[in-house]
Amino acid sequence: MAGKTMLAVQYDGYGAGADGLKHVSVPIPSPKKDEILLKLDAVAINPIDWKIQKGMLRPFMPPKFPFIPVVDVTGEVIEAGPGVNSFKHGDKVISLLDFKNAGGLAEYAVAPVDFTVHRPPEIPAAEAAGLPAAACTALQALKTAGVTFDKPSQLKNILITAASGGVGLFAVQLAKLANLHVTATCGARNIELVKSLGADEVLDYKTSEGAELKSPSGKKYDGVIHCATGIAWSVFEPNLSTYGKVVDINPTLKSMLFSIVRKVTLSKKKLVIMSLTAKADELKFIVELAKEGKLKTVIDSKHSLRNAGDAWTKSIDGHAPGKIIVQIIVE
Ligand SMILES: NC(=O)c1ccc[n+]([C@@H]2O[C@H](COP(=O)([O-])OP(=O)(O)OC[C@H]3O[C@@H](n4cnc5c(N)ncnc54)[C@H](OP(=O)(O)O)[C@@H]3O)[C@@H](O)[C@H]2O)c1
Repeated sequence: MAGKTMLAVQYDGYGAGADGLKHVSVPIPSPKKDEILLKLDAVAINPIDWKIQKGMLRPFMPPKFPFIPVVDVTGEVIEAGPGVNSFKHGDKVISLLDFKNAGGLAEYAVAPVDFTVHRPPEIPAAEAAGLPAAACTALQALKTAGVTFDKPSQLKNILITAASGGVGLFAVQLAKLANLHVTATCGARNIELVKSLGADEVLDYKTSEGAELKSPSGKKYDGVIHCATGIAWSVFEPNLSTYGKVVDINPTLKSMLFSIVRKVTLSKKKLVIMSLTAKADELKFIVELAKEGKLKTVIDSKHSLRNAGDAWTKSIDGHAPGKIIVQIIVE
């Protein structure tokens, strides 16, 4: 594909939201060692994509401008780089791109083979695109809380905040697959959706009961997958069981320090902060569940590459129930 160009959406600096996205024609990238070139079918926007553009991870991310964002992709292998034996031309795959290189908001992208798995025909492209970052984060957060999937969990009751979000909807389903009692928080309009995916009890976070996070049946939480923001420890604390653990996936300096304090003071109830670490075996586990129909990607909306700005704005608004998908090839 050397010398050929593709359509891509990139930004040249921090800030500006969707207005900062530029539609450009750029060279198709070449796969290096242990990389594959993909012709993309669909990609998903995650909050981290616009948070990087906003400058929330500066000066580390992005490493340079212009930057093509988006890490969640699915597509077809066009070319394998040196050393690649596990994928060949024509294979359909799902990848989590390297956050530093990104490149997903385009017609083609290079993916690291380490974080790529085959896409079974049972999973449509849009649903596949929604899996990597959100479902793997949900899985890792549950494991961090102590949930086990290969044997019965010690944990019995779990709370999932912002359960209608991309991560939360997967967390609810995975927690039910691990046979936990799930209490979830979301807005009133999403209660039926969250229940339909298995939540046993749902709290409307805009009511006083919801704000207190009290389980309607009086259960104490052994673990909390905290996908929302702005809830104080003093709200969680009385609702936790003796060794209850809050896993916060939105770390701030304050929560990091508080987490360390809880650890060094040997507190029974803990706050643990978590950031996704890409693991191929976890992506495989997730894709297998999706193939078997045990894990569903809830899609909020689908957009074309031309209208990627609408998808970007929707994610920034923060009210989507489920995943926001950009279809590169419309099925
Ligand atoms: N640490 C990591 O590695 C990692 C990985 C992935 C995501 N994250 C972070 O985790 C957060 C969630 O990600 P996401 O992809 O799930 O986001 P998302 O899809 O944008 O979440 C949107 C949903 O959250 C609901 N919501 C917002 N605030 C809420 C609250 N206080 N209580 C209950 N529901 C609330 C919204 O419902 P309403 O419309 O009713 O408000 C909406 O349905 C983001 O901040 C993201 O950056 C971290």
